[in-house]
Amino acid sequence: MAIIDPMDVIPFNSPYVTGKEISYINQVLLDKELAGGGAFTERCQEFLESKLDVKKVLLTHSCTAALEMAAMLLDIQPGDEIIMPSYTFVSTANAFVIRGGVPVFVDIRKDTLNIDERLIEMAITPRTKAILPVHYAGVACEMDTIMDIANRHNLLVVEDAAQAIESNYKGRALGSIGDLGCLSFHETKNITSGEGGAILINNSNFIEQAEIIREKGTNRNRFLRGQIDKYSWVGVGSSYLPSEITAAFLYAQLEETEKITQERIKIWNNYDYAFRSLGETEGLSLPNIPNQCKHNAHIYYLILHNSGDRNRFIKYI
Ligand SMILES: Cc1ncc(COP(=O)(O)O)c(C=O)c1O
Repeated sequence: MAIIDPMDVIPFNSPYVTGKEISYINQVLLDKELAGGGAFTERCQEFLESKLDVKKVLLTHSCTAALEMAAMLLDIQPGDEIIMPSYTFVSTANAFVIRGGVPVFVDIRKDTLNIDERLIEMAITPRTKAILPVHYAGVACEMDTIMDIANRHNLLVVEDAAQAIESNYKGRALGSIGDLGCLSFHETKNITSGEGGAILINNSNFIEQAEIIREKGTNRNRFLRGQIDKYSWVGVGSSYLPSEITAAFLYAQLEETEKITQERIKIWNNYDYAFRSLGETEGLSLPNIPNQCKHNAHIYYLILHNSGDRNRFIKYI
């Protein structure tokens, strides 16, 4: 077996570092405010609310946590069905499965690898509670059709926008269209805090409950706003609030969101320039960005004819 020099391997991902992360973390240390919910958490949330035009944003410690919060907010009961694409990351399904929900997988479109909106209606049953589109590679699902189906069948929509910060559909930020949206700031994402995420709440009926769920089932947020003089247990919840250290790191990245996206678009365009004609002559599938979508260059992919070709190609490059 050939020994591979790690220097020769193209890394799976390489996180962008702005240079301000350490100074913001130092600020947290100076302020001696390490737990979550402090100044940097607020700054990140306000930044995202205004940038994405979302009613309420709550930082979480991962997108998985944001999806779990969504499952609690939807009050998923054993046997409730959630329609989602057959091609996604495990957390999309797991967050609902741990509450007894049943993922109903719908096939994906060949051109975007997103849920095929034409197949959704066939998957609806009396147990269907929600539709969960995943914006794969930061390219939007066909949201007008999905929202129309949801409205006609009285279903809720949770967007898994883990990969989709800075992407939009007809000018609307991904994650801001359904009732709820979930973002990831994992190291592999365009904007990162190592681990991290956020739940985007567009349906204001969910705001107060979401604050309670994130704060271990207590009304601590009302206490922090001075609305009550002590806080107590008021319902189900868990610990989904990231620390101020994470929020400080994240804020340094959020400030450079546009610059980071532009850099990635340049790199994505270089890959596209290099591979587009090869894709056409060899009949390979390459990313397709529908006209109504602005993407964030999260992933550039090539789909080869079979795994043998794929493995030879990976070895070659
Ligand atoms: C589509 C999708 N959903 C959810 C997640 C989970 O994100 P996190 O690692 O922040 O929990 C990911 C992470 O890769 C993802 O790609």
